[in-house]
Amino acid sequence: MAAAQSDKMSLPTRSDLTDGVVLLRQPREADIEAIALGAGDPLVAKYTVVPSPYTEQDARDFVSKIEQHWDEATAAVFGIFEAEAPADFLGMIGLHDLVLEGTPGGSAEIGYWMSPGARRRGLATRAVRLVSTWAIDELGLARIQWCALPDNDASRIVAESVGYRVEGTLRLGMLQRGLRHDQLLGSLLPADLIR
Ligand SMILES: CC(C)(COP(=O)(O)OP(=O)(O)OC[C@H]1O[C@@H](n2cnc3c(N)ncnc32)[C@H](O)[C@@H]1OP(=O)(O)O)[C@@H](O)C(=O)NCCC(=O)NCCS
Repeated sequence: MAAAQSDKMSLPTRSDLTDGVVLLRQPREADIEAIALGAGDPLVAKYTVVPSPYTEQDARDFVSKIEQHWDEATAAVFGIFEAEAPADFLGMIGLHDLVLEGTPGGSAEIGYWMSPGARRRGLATRAVRLVSTWAIDELGLARIQWCALPDNDASRIVAESVGYRVEGTLRLGMLQRGLRHDQLLGSLLPADLIR
């Protein structure tokens, strides 16, 4: 039964998501070094709200909270791997600000980044499609929100490839390390999803 239809609003028991090429699984201790390296990339710092500089302790703190967020049903975070190399961490994707509702459906905000060496291979697009499909089919979400800095073409193209639509600009909507920036806002509704 979909979590959204159960009495208690909880996430389903965690299981990996895969389309045969990309594998999404819970990040663990062995991934810490690669997570810290990836999140420390200047492009990730520029376009996300991760701490910068990003340390291994930041990665450890982040990973240690993932299970708690899953249990509390406040966020669902996955590491991105290739199915044929499930030990080599490539990126991170998550649904944050998760609100599970039975009817008329819940909502969340999607966020993602890829380590530099894993980009431009279509893996982020696959990961966004996998998580979005899972969120709609299994969690019953009615709306998945996407936000990005206005010049983040890569993130917008990835999101639009899965069906997300840009809705407008939130003026000074993004708070990033003590500074405010304009922010593009978009969303995916179930009918928009390009499977
Ligand atoms: C956004 C990001 C996750 C995309 O990852 P990716 O694995 O390169 O994405 P994909 O390979 O699935 O890209 C699919 C398409 O998006 C477009 N795209 C990806 N990166 C692009 C770039 N730098 N410039 C222009 N188009 C780009 C291309 O059309 C690409 O297809 P192609 O390589 O066949 O031309 C990655 O660039 C990243 O980690 N950026 C820094 C963090 C970030 O911006 N996160 C999102 C915050 S909102």
